[in-house]
Amino acid sequence: MGAQVFRDFTKNYPIITRGKGVFLYDRAGREYLDAVGGISVVNVGHGVPEVVAAMQEQADKVAFVHGGSFANEAAMALCEELATWAPKGMGHILLLSGGSEATETAMKLAHQYHLERGKADKYRIVSRWISYHGNTIGALSMSGRTAWRREFTPYLQNFPKIHPPYCYRCPYGKSYPGCGIACAEELERVITLEGAEGIAAFIAEPVIGTSAAGVTPPPEYYPRIREICDTHDILFIADEVITGIGRTGKNFGIEHWGVAPDMITTAKALSSGYVPLAAVILHDKVHDAIAKGSGHMTQGFTYSGHPLCSAVGLAVLKYLKSHELVENAARIGRLLLQRLDALKRFPIVGDVRGIGLLQGVEFVADQISKRPFPPEAGVTRRIVEAALAEGVMVVGGMSGMIDGVAGDHIQISPPYIFTETNVEQLVRALEAAVQKVMREVSV
Ligand SMILES: Cc1ncc(COP(=O)(O)O)c(C=O)c1O
Repeated sequence: MGAQVFRDFTKNYPIITRGKGVFLYDRAGREYLDAVGGISVVNVGHGVPEVVAAMQEQADKVAFVHGGSFANEAAMALCEELATWAPKGMGHILLLSGGSEATETAMKLAHQYHLERGKADKYRIVSRWISYHGNTIGALSMSGRTAWRREFTPYLQNFPKIHPPYCYRCPYGKSYPGCGIACAEELERVITLEGAEGIAAFIAEPVIGTSAAGVTPPPEYYPRIREICDTHDILFIADEVITGIGRTGKNFGIEHWGVAPDMITTAKALSSGYVPLAAVILHDKVHDAIAKGSGHMTQGFTYSGHPLCSAVGLAVLKYLKSHELVENAARIGRLLLQRLDALKRFPIVGDVRGIGLLQGVEFVADQISKRPFPPEAGVTRRIVEAALAEGVMVVGGMSGMIDGVAGDHIQISPPYIFTETNVEQLVRALEAAVQKVMREVSV
C-alpha cells in the first residue's frame, strides 16, 4: 500500500476534505477557522467559484505549453495585469512555480546583471539572520534560519549576513529612534569588510514572515538600505513571497517605505494557493542590462509561464481588485493588531507586531526581562495545538528567532476576506490557548 510521507513522520494530521471562505473542514466534519491562510497563501478565500471557473476554462483551452517554444495568452495577460500592481518602472515579469524558485532565480539574475556589465566578480548575496528565502540550496544559502541550515551547511554558499531590524530585541541593545538605524548601517559595514566588488545584491523580506512574524522595520530603514545599495552598485531584492499581492494592505510591502527595489520576488498570494505560481518582477534597469547584453537567460523551468496556473493568477488578481480586498486587508489588519495587542495583559505575551494581515505574537517567560522560554518547553507548539483545539488554525513561526535556538512566536496571516466576527473568534481562541499554556508551563 502506498502512503504519503509528511514533514513530521510521527504526527497525525487532520485530514481536510473541503474549504469554503475562511473555513476548512476535516473528514469528521470539524470546522477550522483558517487564521493563517494556509501559510500566508490564501487571500480570496477557499472555494471561490470565479477562480475555479477560470481554471476550468483554461484547462479546456490549453493547460500547458513549454515557454522555451511558445508564448501563451494566459501568461501574457497575467503579466500585463501584474505590472499594474508593481511599483513604477517594474513591468518585466518572469513567471515561476514557487517562492524558492523565485528567490533562487533572482539570485542568479543579480549575478547575470553584473556579468552583462563586465563585473563578473559580483556574485555574493548579503542577507539577514532570522530570515527565510526558501529551501533550495541557493535560497537556503541566503536564508538566515539556523535550524533549517544546520544539516546542510556543507552545501551552502558562504554568503554574508547582517542582523535583522528586530526592535523588540535590538541586536545592538539600542532603542529607536536614538539607535541611528544601526541595523541598516551594518549593511554598509559588511559590504566594506567583504568588498563591494564581490557582492551582487542584498535580499530582505520587507516585513519578516515565518522567521519572526510581523517584525516591521522603522521608516528610515529601507530608504537607508536603498542608498547603501546604490552607493556600492549592489541590487536590492525585496523578497515579497509573503508580503506581496496585498498582504500588508498595500500591493507590495516595500511600498510602506516608499522605496523601489531592483527585483521583487512574489508567490503565495499570487494564486491564493489554487495552483503553484510565483514571479520575479524586474526593474527596467535589470531587464535592460540583460536585453541589451546577451539577450537571454541561462536558466528556466519546465513550468515557467504555465497557462493554467497563469489563468488562475489572473482570476485571483481580478477578484482581489473587484472586491477591494487589499483595502480590506489594511482595514481588518488595523483592528486585528489592536485586538491582539490586548493579549499583552497575559504575562507570557511579550510582543505583538505586524502590518495589514501579516502579524505575529511573541511569547516570553518574563515580560520585563523578555527572557524566552527554554526551547524544550515547546511553548509555540502548545499554543498552536491549543488554538486548534478551539477550532482556530494559526501557525507556529519557526522557533529560534532570538539566537537561532530560543524564541517562541506564532504567525497570523488570514485571508483578506477576514471579518470583524472572524477576528473575535480568533482572539477568543488565542485567549483560551494562552491561558491553557500558562497553566501548563506554570507561569
Ligand atoms: C519570504 C519567503 N521567501 C521564500 C519562500 C519560499 O517559498 P516556497 O516555499 O514557495 O518555495 C518563503 C516560504 O515561506 C518565504 O516566506
